[in-house]
Amino acid sequence: MAESNVLKIRHLSKSFGANVVLRDIDFNVNAGDVTCIIGASGSGKSTLLRCINLLETPTTGEILHHDVDITDRKMNVPEYRTKVGMVFQNFNLFNNMSVLENCMVGQVKVLKKEKAEAKKTAMMFLEKVGMAPYINAKPRQLSGGQKQRVAIARALAMEPEVLLFDEPTSALDPQMVGEVLAVMRTLAKEGLTMIIVTHEMAFARDVSNHVVYMAGGVIEEEGAPADIFGNPRKNSTKEFLARFMQG
Ligand SMILES: Nc1ncnc2c1ncn2[C@@H]1O[C@H](COP(=O)(O)OP(=O)(O)OP(=O)(O)O)[C@@H](O)[C@H]1O
Ligand SMILES: [Mg+2]
Repeated sequence: MAESNVLKIRHLSKSFGANVVLRDIDFNVNAGDVTCIIGASGSGKSTLLRCINLLETPTTGEILHHDVDITDRKMNVPEYRTKVGMVFQNFNLFNNMSVLENCMVGQVKVLKKEKAEAKKTAMMFLEKVGMAPYINAKPRQLSGGQKQRVAIARALAMEPEVLLFDEPTSALDPQMVGEVLAVMRTLAKEGLTMIIVTHEMAFARDVSNHVVYMAGGVIEEEGAPADIFGNPRKNSTKEFLARFMQG
């Protein structure tokens, strides 16, 4: 690929009233990168992902998608979100729709695909996440791990360039975490570009190629997983990791 910078976050800040939640955030995402964002509760991880997906409007700074500033008001937001999709902690499935309909609706409404084609694509990704046997089920009939796998299939069905994950396993019972992480490992191996907010440190260490540690709304430290987990430079990073890696 001639141009590998998919996203560039430049001097991004976000305030809610007087509360400055993100300050001067800067990092790049290249094609195929798996970037894990780690940090304590309240450090601004979700707000950062929500800014990248335009669920929040940055207060200052730029988010460049292939060098186009998406914070520009003329952006077509639904179209942008087909390229930069998001998977949420609480799945956000449409509860009145079946598994299959959940994975078709965006393709039909936003990508303007024919139903038959949307169904074919939906089935392909439902098979990939192991949820093809459940196409007629409603979300309430599924376990948390199954719901999250459907949510991932739904996001993949839009054939995004980048997928953002906000703590995709933290609403799950422990025995279901593995099945969702296994799907994400496969996606990483296949070269999908992902930005993942997670408290799963072993996963971040093994699967990512870039780790961003946030504290108090700033990037405190970032680098290769071997450096962040094996040789953190800052005391705050060491203390955070010591709390999360124990046991
Ligand atoms: N819509 C909002 N209005 C006001 N303050 C907000 C809003 N959303 C987030 N905040 C504040 O921004 C700060 C960062 O929140 P954020 O949810 O981004 O943290 P986080 O790192 O994702 O935390 P967690 O690990 O608990 O999910 C918090 O102090 C939070 O109260
Ligand atoms: Mg959060």
